[in-house]
Amino acid sequence: MLDELPDLRREAEERLAQIDNLQGLQAWRNTYLGRRGAVTALLRRLSELPSEQRPVAGRKANALKEILEAAYRARHDELLGCERERVWRTAQLDVTLPGRPVSLGQLHPVTRTLREMKAAFARMGFQVYEGPEVEEDHYNFTLLNMPPHHPARDMQDTFYTTIPGLLLRTHTSPNQVRLMERLRPPIRLVVPGKVYRHDNPDPSHDWMFCQMEGLVVGRGITMGHLIGTIRELARQIFGPGRRIRFRCDYFPYVEPGLDTAVSCMLCDGTGCRLCGGTGWLEAIPGGMVHPRVLLNCGIDPDRYTGFAFGAGPDRITALKYGVDDIRRFYANDLRFLQQF
Ligand code: DAH
Repeated sequence: MLDELPDLRREAEERLAQIDNLQGLQAWRNTYLGRRGAVTALLRRLSELPSEQRPVAGRKANALKEILEAAYRARHDELLGCERERVWRTAQLDVTLPGRPVSLGQLHPVTRTLREMKAAFARMGFQVYEGPEVEEDHYNFTLLNMPPHHPARDMQDTFYTTIPGLLLRTHTSPNQVRLMERLRPPIRLVVPGKVYRHDNPDPSHDWMFCQMEGLVVGRGITMGHLIGTIRELARQIFGPGRRIRFRCDYFPYVEPGLDTAVSCMLCDGTGCRLCGGTGWLEAIPGGMVHPRVLLNCGIDPDRYTGFAFGAGPDRITALKYGVDDIRRFYANDLRFLQQF
């Protein structure tokens, strides 16, 4: 048995030298060192030897096993290096391939309208404020002349939180009160922001939308100032061609109240899906601040008057671009949004 060892070693080493890939190397390892391999078989046969020969034969056979294992590892590392080099060479960066186009982001259409509106108001001397989206019932309703159980609370389907007295603001109007509490006349400001309603979504309603509250308080402020401001806003946003209609409306925090509708740009007044067949889209309700709201904020209604409005930037955007359904603005469909 001992005389077989040199031949086995030579044969194994010769074959190893010819191997040029990892697969072949694995097969080689199985042939010599695997469970059914030649060296393993040799070691098993040790027990057949007379006991005095076993230690020497065992040592030599084990030495051969170690030599071949070391040879295997060395060759393995070598081949792995070659393999990496081959992959690297064949998969090299091809600088002649056309690059992937980087898609540029852009402003959301409603954000653009909000910016245009803010700029238009800034030109008219308004300041821009913000307020909380999670609001107190007190500000959202009570101080706006809607005490608990006031029927007008039902006009706005409210999302309540689990904390009593806290809700998602249904309009930006609570900021009238928040700001009148802090500031003294003359006041001239707008408050843009998101509002939430448990409404049935349709082409002109969604459960989340934007508003821009406006508030002006000072001496001798009249309905004429309100109408003039709204006309000027519409002129700046839509250009001079759009028709505007003012009608009486009711909101508990204004007296008198009005609603401004803009002629539907999609159907130009003939009636369509967006305007619900009326030819008009109500986009800017408002009115003269109710004396009780002024009083609630510590402003003397005998000395000061004011007007307020709550413009709807989503509807204004729909009107401006002829979009037939405001829900599209928040559906996150890039094919739609990229058109603006
Ligand atoms: N808050 C009203 C709404 O969400 C809109 C509104 C009406 C705001 C009249 C006002 C106003 O400031 O005076 O429907």
